[in-house]
Amino acid sequence: PPLSEILNLHDFEAIAKHTMPEKAWAYYSSAADDEITNRENHAAFHRIWFRPRILKNVTKVDWSTTILGQKSSMPLYITATALGKLGHPDGELNLTRAAAKHGIIQMIPTLASCSFDEIMDTAAPGQVQFFQLYVNKDREITKRIVQHAEQRGIKGLFITVDAPQLGRREKDMRQKFEAEDPSEVSRAGQGGVDRSQGAARAISSFIDPGLDWSDMAWFKSITKMPLILKGVQCWEDALEAYDLGLNGVVLSNHGGRQLDFARSGIEVLVEVTSKLREMRGLSFPNEKFQLFVDGGVRRATDVMKAIALGATAVGVGRPFLYAYSAYGPEGINQALQILHDEFEMNMRLLGARNIKEVVAEMVDASNIHLH
Ligand code: FNR
Repeated sequence: PPLSEILNLHDFEAIAKHTMPEKAWAYYSSAADDEITNRENHAAFHRIWFRPRILKNVTKVDWSTTILGQKSSMPLYITATALGKLGHPDGELNLTRAAAKHGIIQMIPTLASCSFDEIMDTAAPGQVQFFQLYVNKDREITKRIVQHAEQRGIKGLFITVDAPQLGRREKDMRQKFEAEDPSEVSRAGQGGVDRSQGAARAISSFIDPGLDWSDMAWFKSITKMPLILKGVQCWEDALEAYDLGLNGVVLSNHGGRQLDFARSGIEVLVEVTSKLREMRGLSFPNEKFQLFVDGGVRRATDVMKAIALGATAVGVGRPFLYAYSAYGPEGINQALQILHDEFEMNMRLLGARNIKEVVAEMVDASNIHLH
């Protein structure tokens, strides 16, 4: 169907499933084991309901915000997803250009298909970007990557902590990752490749399962970029990150691709804000320690629920991959325009004129259990 008939982010997935190369669909859509967590990610938003306010003069509404001190036209960012070229020859550059055009932030993955410098060179002057880091067993390689990212102007380092070993994504494992694959990741000397078990496993063998809390002091010693842990799944680890002086956490289960039966980020958010308030007197959203959520975000209302519950912003992954895989750069522009239109209408209907007015009282999250 023509792009004009695409009405929401779910539509891109339905189209992409039938138009993308099989191997790309397998890598992008797959999740761990029985994919229960992947399904739960979006479903979890269904358990939260709104308590809108009326008669607030919502002629003008503004959903722009700041993320780690950087301006963003929406309270969301493009999260890191590896192997952008599987779906389209321009790969991650589609995301870079769309982010510039719409004033949002892209998180560049360690395992991008395009090289880091190619992405940075494509960025518009002054365009804000974050970097997602997989930590190499060889810490000298990691140090070089981190310091290069900082030197090129990256504004936040998101260290992925939910992938000491890659999850079993069986749909992906049934596809072989070919040596001559043009989408092969630009790995800049990251280590060996085992091609027998799908794309995900082929590219990830350098990741260090030995990473632990004591490494955080080392990260602070090698960079001044804000440090955020991506893949926190309970309040205990969020508290630890806060106590170590890190700048935030992403409550995420990696799009359901790692531990199956991990809870959704939006559910974890409720316990994290509650416990950190109780134990450290923090309120959220918080400038010094920012909370992010990703997984299953498909509507502006999903984003607004996370903001109401204390998140600074949310990450969106697959919908943008599906949008550009199915329709090229116009697809992702359309995806962002759809979100723009959804924010405008739903901010009005919620009775919030700006992001600060999207507050906890505007949601009923009583279906989410505290732990
Ligand atoms: C990911 N994700 C991911 N995360 C990460 O830290 N490093 C990575 O290389 C990747 N790669 C990756 C590839 C693909 C194809 C997907 C779908 C996801 C996880 C990603 O950052 C994020 O946590 C989820 O994608 C969020 O869920 P949704 O929005 O895809 O439902």
